[in-house]
Amino acid sequence: MSLPLLTAVTPRFEAELVTKLGSSRSVHVVRRCADLAELLGAAAAGVGRVAVVSAELRGLERSAIRELHERDLLVLGVHRPGDEPGERMLRRWSVPVVVPADADQAQLDAALAELLDAGHAPDDATADHTTADHTTGDQDVREAADEVTTPHTAAPGDGARGRPERTPSRSQEGPDAEGRVVAVWGPVGAPGRSTVAVNLAAELAEPGQPVILADLDTYGASVAQLLAVLDEAPGVAAAARAADQGNLNPAVLSTMAPEVAPGLRVLTGMPRPDRWTELREHALADVLAACVQSVPLTVLDTGFCLEADEELSFDTAAPRRNGATLAALEAADEVVVVGAADPVSLQRLVRGLDQLAEVTDARTTVAVNRLRAGAVGRDPTRRVREALERFAGVTDVVLVADDQSGVDAAVLAGQTLREARPSSPARAGLRELATRVSGRVLTPPRGGRLARRTGSI
Ligand SMILES: Nc1ncnc2c1ncn2[C@@H]1O[C@H](COP(=O)(O)OP(=O)(O)O)[C@@H](O)[C@H]1O
Ligand SMILES: [Mg+2]
Repeated sequence: MSLPLLTAVTPRFEAELVTKLGSSRSVHVVRRCADLAELLGAAAAGVGRVAVVSAELRGLERSAIRELHERDLLVLGVHRPGDEPGERMLRRWSVPVVVPADADQAQLDAALAELLDAGHAPDDATADHTTADHTTGDQDVREAADEVTTPHTAAPGDGARGRPERTPSRSQEGPDAEGRVVAVWGPVGAPGRSTVAVNLAAELAEPGQPVILADLDTYGASVAQLLAVLDEAPGVAAAARAADQGNLNPAVLSTMAPEVAPGLRVLTGMPRPDRWTELREHALADVLAACVQSVPLTVLDTGFCLEADEELSFDTAAPRRNGATLAALEAADEVVVVGAADPVSLQRLVRGLDQLAEVTDARTTVAVNRLRAGAVGRDPTRRVREALERFAGVTDVVLVADDQSGVDAAVLAGQTLREARPSSPARAGLRELATRVSGRVLTPPRGGRLARRTGSI
């Protein structure tokens, strides 16, 4: 059994490498891709089982390697001879086997043997092969591995240049203890997603129980403004960049998320909506992973739109504007769905709950915000509950009172309600919500001001 192989390597070594790869019995070259886009396209089309990529390939990022792995390709990395940073980068990106581009036939054969022998997902790269789970398709890999002739293989432990080594284990990245993720979502029309997200996070944050609040709204990020965090705070874009370069860990993350109140860290959103393309989903997944490794609770403020825009485009490798919201919902253990208490918003909420059910199985808690008599008539509590039960079958709703002056005062001060207006009537609903999503019982709001924020970065 010989496996189909794709190459995407820089021109200087390409022809020579392809010739040597062509001489290997375990693989056969099916496409020589001119660039990364062609490689990802071929991988998406299911054309290959092995991909050879060079470190200096234009546009190569960790997310591309991950995409190849997710498509079940085995990735062999090559780097310019002597290019140690390139070699290290590939290893950091979980490329399991890396060789110099001028590797001779024996070294290449040994590298392929190792790759095919490993023949598993990247995360298992250091796992015990005898116990590793083998998914469909691994049989082919095993057969191909068996066919690799061994006479040229470098002797174990000879330390020959180009001898493939394994990628370090992911477990270096941190302990397993993972925090919870709560995504705050709501339909179009500014029902108060950000206000709820900020204040929910604030109610739950304590010095001993830190919370990260991350703004993933790619249409109108507002958390930085609501909490008066400086524009130049690095935020989620910087965290995503670090993730793409393989440099994100809890320590780095904490330098990017300033503490704005005791125990409350903020990862601000995109300062300009037109920079949404910087939030690639793979990188975001890494950012969220770093969050859950860092704190017991992560609260995500999201955009409103749930359409998966790749359905509108044939370029599946393209970033999706709603990808951040969809990634947040995917990562969430629990989703708080925010609607506003007026007839138009309630109707949107009913429709939104239907749409949401199509993209997540996470537990949902419905919060109806800005509850006031003027918008829905007398006895707004009963009216809102009745409407949601009748049209959405939702019987359990948390109601958050409208408090224009309190919310305005908090925004003006760049503070949370807990700090700026501890007596706000909106806090009762927000604390009830906090109790539901955290499982921690919060006592009724107390008066008294919390300590001022401790500054940035
Ligand atoms: N409980 C509330 N009481 C009064 N005003 C509120 C309340 N919640 C939100 N608002 C106001 O509603 C507007 C939209 O809120 P925001 O949180 O930015 O919505 P979204 O994030 O859904 O777009 C803001 O002006 C905000 O101050
Ligand atoms: Mg918002």
